[in-house]
Amino acid sequence: MREVRDHYYKKAKAEQYRARSVYKLMEIDRKFHLLRKGFSVLDIGCSPGSWSQYVLEHVENGHVTGIDLAHSVDIRDSRFTFIQADILDKNVLSHIGCEAGDRGATGPFDLIVSDAAPKTTGNKFTDSQNSLRLVRAVFEIAKSLLRDGGSVVSKVFQGEDLQGFVDSIRKDFGRVDLFKPKSSRAESRELYIIARNRGGKR
Ligand SMILES: C[S@@+](CC[C@H](N)C(=O)[O-])C[C@H]1O[C@@H](n2cnc3c(N)ncnc32)[C@H](O)[C@@H]1O
Repeated sequence: MREVRDHYYKKAKAEQYRARSVYKLMEIDRKFHLLRKGFSVLDIGCSPGSWSQYVLEHVENGHVTGIDLAHSVDIRDSRFTFIQADILDKNVLSHIGCEAGDRGATGPFDLIVSDAAPKTTGNKFTDSQNSLRLVRAVFEIAKSLLRDGGSVVSKVFQGEDLQGFVDSIRKDFGRVDLFKPKSSRAESRELYIIARNRGGKR
């Protein structure tokens, strides 16, 4: 496993990405074709910034709004807006509206991606419940800020309530899949929910 980590870690360093996580989004995008030129994208849990880097490379004159608990994300690109916020805060939508200003940064977004993860405790049940809380917050944000036809990618830890949650969002999206990228460590319980075509028919 260490070999796998070292491979992606070294590759990220060599390719000047801020984290090995970039290869998970790359695999997701290659399989599901989610990014397009001109897109406005919300990147939740964006620090240290590799997903935002990748998205910026693919949206050309589009825009990325990144949110994280971290104080800052040092991406110097006029197409990137960073907002320090907790997505579990009930005022998160007004943070996005107030702090992002205009420039396409406040939505509606074409795509919302979230790699947000809770601090793990080592207790699988607690970790999966905490992860699902974040995922529920991501999909609440999507209700207000994702355009019709738009998509959501969200990391989630496997747990007993995951299937029920996935079933509950099927009515809101044309297609919902669960995907485990090869670059995700095999021992990790993370998966990605890929919910496409908001409001579309199945
Ligand atoms: C695995 S890292 C994301 C890596 C990122 N996708 C990248 O490629 O650089 C998970 C991030 O989720 C953030 N996070 C966790 N809980 C959060 C919350 N409630 N609100 C906002 N961000 C959160 C953490 O601060 C952390 O930076």
